[in-house]
Amino acid sequence: MRQRDMSYLVILLLGLCALYTMWSGILMDVRGLPTFILHAEMGYACAALGALHLALNAPLIRSYAHRWHRPAPSYRPVRGRRDFLQGALAMLAGGVIGFWVGKAAPREGRPAPTDRGGASPPPQPTPSGAAIPLPPPLPSTLMLDEALRRRRSRRDYASLPLSQGELAGLLFAAQGITDPLRAFRAAPSAGATYPLETYALVHRVEALAAGLYRYRPAEHALELLREGRFERHIMQIGIGQGMLAQAGVVIILSAVPARTERRYGGRAERYILLEAGHAAQNVYLAAEGYGLGACAVGAFDDEALNAFLGVDGRREKALYMVAVGKRRA
Ligand SMILES: Cc1cc2nc3c(=O)[nH]c(=O)nc-3n(C[C@H](O)[C@H](O)[C@H](O)COP(=O)(O)O)c2cc1C
Repeated sequence: MRQRDMSYLVILLLGLCALYTMWSGILMDVRGLPTFILHAEMGYACAALGALHLALNAPLIRSYAHRWHRPAPSYRPVRGRRDFLQGALAMLAGGVIGFWVGKAAPREGRPAPTDRGGASPPPQPTPSGAAIPLPPPLPSTLMLDEALRRRRSRRDYASLPLSQGELAGLLFAAQGITDPLRAFRAAPSAGATYPLETYALVHRVEALAAGLYRYRPAEHALELLREGRFERHIMQIGIGQGMLAQAGVVIILSAVPARTERRYGGRAERYILLEAGHAAQNVYLAAEGYGLGACAVGAFDDEALNAFLGVDGRREKALYMVAVGKRRA
């Protein structure tokens, strides 16, 4: 292949990759998507093809550089006022169209100006207490289809302790990190904003002191917030539901709305509640896979649960609980 043909081919490929990158970038911006298939790869291809294009045209670039210092009589840096005006108008039109597309996009799903839709989640709270490492999640004994078929809300538990592997599996199902590179989690999250916080109120878990713990997804670890027996207290918060005291552990989901509001404004409230549902369903299925009993709890005193977690109900608020315990034989 002649060098000139090769150069044209590179320009063609470069144009196609640039078009795809531009189109997918606009789509991500308009729809508030954190990522889009092949967007980043096409960007890298653009960089590689651009470098190849420069390399193929090195002699030409050298000759331009040479002329820059000693302009040839026929060399005209600007071809004319008309060409210059055309170029400036094209640039302006591109800018206006880009601005208009961004403005016309519905508020829903459109990232805030400060959030360019990156795939990395927003900053999570800085861990304060010591991390108590959890073992890897216990493997499920059921295939997913079987777990789906068998899942039920079970409210009657034996007073046997859960193993740490079971607890690890329940927490991992709720919010565990499944893609360490991007810190994506087991449950989906609108724009990967991850507003949920996960707590484990431990009543009976092998080799773990009873008390309230926060799950730290990044380390797959627990942080002890309050040591003590809170069976009666959580039952009172849950308007007298006995299973909250009988359970081996109560998984409590709360949300930090600002993480999602920054990006989705008023739409965030809906997204956050949907996410709590995803996480809770994962806990149900994990529990079923371990032969444990689980039951969602939405009926509780909001203020009392917020106070128990030590959150203010605005910056962070309790949303949902799932009681989990050993089934009675
Ligand atoms: C949002 C929500 C809140 C719930 N709150 C409670 C609750 O406070 N107490 C309870 O015993 N069950 C609660 N449940 C469980 C439902 O009662 C249960 O899902 C329903 O009876 C259907 O049974 P199944 O889960 O076995 O299919 C809740 C379920 C959901 C989805």
